[in-house]
Amino acid sequence: MERLTLLALSGSLRKHSYNRAAIEALQALSPDHVEIVVAEIKDLPLFNPELEGSHIAPLETLKSQLVKASGLIIASPEYAHGISGPMKNALDWLVSGVEFPGKPIMLINTSPRASHAFESLKEVLTTMSGVLVESACVSIPLLSSGLDKDGILANREIADALRGGLVDFVDQVRKIEVKEGRA
Ligand SMILES: Cc1cc2nc3c(=O)[nH]c(=O)nc-3n(C[C@H](O)[C@H](O)[C@H](O)COP(=O)(O)O)c2cc1C
Repeated sequence: MERLTLLALSGSLRKHSYNRAAIEALQALSPDHVEIVVAEIKDLPLFNPELEGSHIAPLETLKSQLVKASGLIIASPEYAHGISGPMKNALDWLVSGVEFPGKPIMLINTSPRASHAFESLKEVLTTMSGVLVESACVSIPLLSSGLDKDGILANREIADALRGGLVDFVDQVRKIEVKEGRA
C-alpha cells in the first residue's frame, strides 16, 4: 500500500502532556504504511503579521512539514474555555500561507468536558479552509487519568478509539486525494 505521511501538532508545551501522549500513542498505533511526524510549535515567535515573509526558521520547518503531509492531526488542550495560546499562535502563522488550505484534519480531544476549545478550534480551522474530517475526530478521557503513552496503549477502550479515528482518517484522506487527482 502507498505510504501516507501525516503531521501532528500538540497544543500543549508540558513535558508530561496528555495531548502529546495521545499523539505518541497514535504514532505507535499507526500501520506500517502510515507515518505520523510530530511538528514542534514551541519555538515559533509570537505571531506578528508584520514579520510574515521574513526568515523564521521554525515556521519554515513547520510549513515544509505541512506541505509534505497528506493530513494534519491536532491534539490541543482547553485553557480558560479557549484554544491554547501555543496552538492559536501556530495557526495564526499559517493563516495566510498556501500550505494549510484544503488539508484534511483529525482532532483529538483529550478531555471530553473541554467542549469550548474543541468547538472554537473547529471554527478556526474551517475558517482557515482546513477540511475537518468529523468522523475521524476522537474524544478520549485522558484528563486526570495519569496515563502516559504506554498507559494509553494498554487501555483497550482508549487505544481502540484512537486507532478507529486514525483508520477512518487515513481512509478519508485517501478518498480526498483520489477525488482531487493526487493519488
Ligand atoms: C491555566 C489553566 C486553565 C485551564 N482551563 C481549563 C478549562 O477552561 N477547561 C478545561 O476543561 N480544562 C482546563 N484546564 C485543564 C487543562 O486543559 C488540562 O490540564 C489539560 O490536560 C492540559 O493539557 P496537557 O495535559 O496536554 O498539557 C486548564 C488548565 C490550566 C493550567
